[in-house]
Amino acid sequence: MCKVPVQQDHETMPSFDHCTRFKRFKLLEPSVGVLGFFLVSVCVICCFFYLDYRAVAKGYMVPNLGERFMWLKLDESSSSSISEIERVDFLSLEGEGCDVFDGDWVWDERYPLYESKDCSFLDEGFRCTENGRLDLFYTKWRWQPKHCNLPRFDGKVMLEMLRNKRLVFVGDSIGRNQWESLLCMLASDVDNKDSIYEVNGNPITKHKGFLVFKFKDYNCTVEYYRSPFLVLQSRPPPGSPQNIKTTLKLDQMDWNSIRWKDADFLVFNTAHWWNHEKTIRMGCFFQEGKKIETEMTVEHAYRRSLETVMRWIRNEVNTSKSKVYFRTFSPVHFRGDWKTVGSCHLEMLPELGTSSVPTETWELLEIVEDVLSAQSNSSNGIKLNILSVTQMTAPRKDGHASLYYLGPKESPAPVHRQDCSHWCLPGVPDAWNELFYAVFLKHSINHTFDSSTYEANV
Ligand SMILES: *[C@@H]1O[C@H](CO)[C@@H](O)[C@H](O)[C@H]1NC(C)=O
Ligand SMILES: *[C@@H]1O[C@H](CO)[C@@H](O)[C@H](O)[C@H]1NC(C)=O
Ligand SMILES: *[C@@H]1O[C@H](CO)[C@@H](O)[C@H](O)[C@H]1NC(C)=O
Ligand SMILES: *[C@@H]1O[C@H](CO)[C@@H](O)[C@H](O)[C@H]1NC(C)=O
Repeated sequence: MCKVPVQQDHETMPSFDHCTRFKRFKLLEPSVGVLGFFLVSVCVICCFFYLDYRAVAKGYMVPNLGERFMWLKLDESSSSSISEIERVDFLSLEGEGCDVFDGDWVWDERYPLYESKDCSFLDEGFRCTENGRLDLFYTKWRWQPKHCNLPRFDGKVMLEMLRNKRLVFVGDSIGRNQWESLLCMLASDVDNKDSIYEVNGNPITKHKGFLVFKFKDYNCTVEYYRSPFLVLQSRPPPGSPQNIKTTLKLDQMDWNSIRWKDADFLVFNTAHWWNHEKTIRMGCFFQEGKKIETEMTVEHAYRRSLETVMRWIRNEVNTSKSKVYFRTFSPVHFRGDWKTVGSCHLEMLPELGTSSVPTETWELLEIVEDVLSAQSNSSNGIKLNILSVTQMTAPRKDGHASLYYLGPKESPAPVHRQDCSHWCLPGVPDAWNELFYAVFLKHSINHTFDSSTYEANV
């Protein structure tokens, strides 16, 4: 289930073979010599470009993660041998086993899928264009898996699949980022926008608890529960030292979990609050049973919490009825020292130089992969679908809200207070949702289904 990094070898190895073969020519006759010289020159130039290409490819490598690198293709039809491969549709039988998270960002003029000014379900903080961001390049990239084509997103199809059902997002504000993106993607295919409303009449902005949006014509809800740690954060045991303000009970789920467990589709994420700044430094310590673990590292606590989530799914969620998805970490891109003056506001293109993803990201990702693979290996493993977006998102340093998150009047924010963790909408989370949609459809259909019903996204 869990995506294990594999060696991705798309280097153009043959060019090296040519080089050595050409060098073996014996230059006997002058005319052959001239021809040989010409060929050798061509070869040298080729080798030069080849080596240069390798240097460029290295530029995409993520530190500490040698073999996992990604690259960009500006144009599908240009050169690369990969584009010549006929890709199957992910939804077809042949698409079985295609790793949709392994691919490239390609430029596509048909994007974005919606415009923020047409969508009333967006927090001000994600409306970059309306907050003054001028470039739109970041809205034009489509995710193209290497070995198959994704279905083109169709809100009506998804809503039909959701009829009489509940889709619930649980997690931190990046989960909310994704949830709002999906609301806009779905709503853009609904003519009567008044038929979509928050069931408790709560406004979408600056709301900290949970929000339940109903699509009346489909009798379905698309909900968001804020729970940045997924486990329970509450008061410390009586008699705890003064500096301990709250504790994270690593062996207990958030109290709100009672509201999620019967959802038909659950999409979890957690990561962005698992750092020193948002826990220990705020007086929030880790607790297991009755014991406060003052020595426990944040990484270990994160691992324990994920194990609790897995146990909870196994014991509390009826996975025959509810499908559970887990979205992995969304990388941040504070180039420079992100705790003080890191920035991303000048980024207009996906990663071209060295990676600005901090190494902590990969450490947390390894913990997630570890816990997930351990659970899928165990005899009582649960059915869990992983939305493995971390690596695909790593090059997208261009997609963050940066200075444009304060609303049209106050933006841009001061350069030293930028947001390089949340994403502009439309933008990167739409691509996660297209992947979610693809996986969602794949699971909802059976194999007698005719996949040609859904236009492939090419
Ligand atoms: C609407 O969906 C709920 C489940 O979310 C179901 O219990 C209810 O019967 C549905 N209502 C109608 C009118 O179909
Ligand atoms: C789990 O859900 C399935 C399908 O809805 C149902 O048939 C089954 O009884 C449920 N199991 C439990 C333990 O509730
Ligand atoms: C799970 O199984 C896979 C393949 O069988 C193995 O590579 C991996 O190390 C196992 N993970 C754990 C945590 O045991
Ligand atoms: C599978 O698809 C066929 C034809 O589209 C349908 O008749 C059948 O009920 C489906 N089975 C399930 C389990 O959904």
